[in-house]
Amino acid sequence: MVYNMETEKERELIIMVDDDPVVLRAGKNSLSGSYRVATLTSAEKLFSFLENNIPVLILLDVVMPGMDGYEAIRILKANSKTQGIPVIFLTGRADAANEYEGLSLGAIDYIIKPFVPALLRKRVEIHLLVEAQKKILETQRQALQNFNSDLQRMVEEKTHTVINLQNAIIKTLADMVEYRDNVTGSHVDRTRRGVSILINALKEQDRYRDQVANWNIEILLESSLLHDVGKIAIDDYILKKPGPLNIDEFELMKKHTDFGVQVIEKIKSAAEENEFLYYAKIFAETHHERWDGTGYPFGLEHGEIPILGRIMAIADVYDALVSERPYKEAYSHEKAVEIIREGRGTQFDPELTDIFVSVADMFREP
Ligand SMILES: [Fe+2]
Ligand SMILES: [Fe+2]
Repeated sequence: MVYNMETEKERELIIMVDDDPVVLRAGKNSLSGSYRVATLTSAEKLFSFLENNIPVLILLDVVMPGMDGYEAIRILKANSKTQGIPVIFLTGRADAANEYEGLSLGAIDYIIKPFVPALLRKRVEIHLLVEAQKKILETQRQALQNFNSDLQRMVEEKTHTVINLQNAIIKTLADMVEYRDNVTGSHVDRTRRGVSILINALKEQDRYRDQVANWNIEILLESSLLHDVGKIAIDDYILKKPGPLNIDEFELMKKHTDFGVQVIEKIKSAAEENEFLYYAKIFAETHHERWDGTGYPFGLEHGEIPILGRIMAIADVYDALVSERPYKEAYSHEKAVEIIREGRGTQFDPELTDIFVSVADMFREP
């Protein structure tokens, strides 16, 4: 809009509606010193006038031929374009019941005719002041609301950045362990994929559906990347040994579950307890437990082993079988599935083994 000094200087418009020209003239005389006053002789004329003019205030008679003032205020208040215009009744109906009715319909004041010009001016002035203050308050409320949503957006952006950073650090930690482990390819990425396939299959089973619904799967899958993080504390000569481990070496290798828990506990002591660390600890601690109780570190059996540990056991072993290691060649997918099937009820949870077999095709390289 072009800035217009004339418009800016223009006085505020008040509309006065009354079927009595004498009243209109008296009203105009008392207000026109401070305002532009448009005088109209019926409610019908008011509505056609409002099509092109929005006043700061309407002074409205009640009893008029045609539409009366009560009907007129109802229409004004029902229209979003006019409902904000303050209305004052200016009427000869002096009884309390009518005054109550007029104020209940949304008028901000009810003035009895004949009026005292100076008092009419004063009351109009006070009402317009209150209206102006209401507008200022509304502007401030709006500004505060905008400020709040800006603040909220900034917090969300920061949170997003922190989560990205956290995921990048976790991934780097897992990659560092793999680099030392001499494992070719990305074992942790592939076991995460295997865990994801098994969890999706579990969702379809009545017996597991409720349990899976309680998991935050996105966080859970990220945390699975740390299941072998304890290998960071295992000596190079064991990790990089180009053949099978002897009994003593294997005992040391088994310690990677304890070390993994220690690493996660250390993070826990610096950060707040959270879902990510909760899942990460379960994976690191229990992925080498066996269904028959001969696994490590605790020798838990059957349902004593957390289900996430039982799931990871299958995904972890599958990937170890199909991968080439310094001490073994890579087995085919079919051979790996067969070996896991043979471990049903000894190494692996029998139900989870069946579920694995039913979706095993999805474990093939994508
Ligand atoms: Fe492991
Ligand atoms: Fe592993």
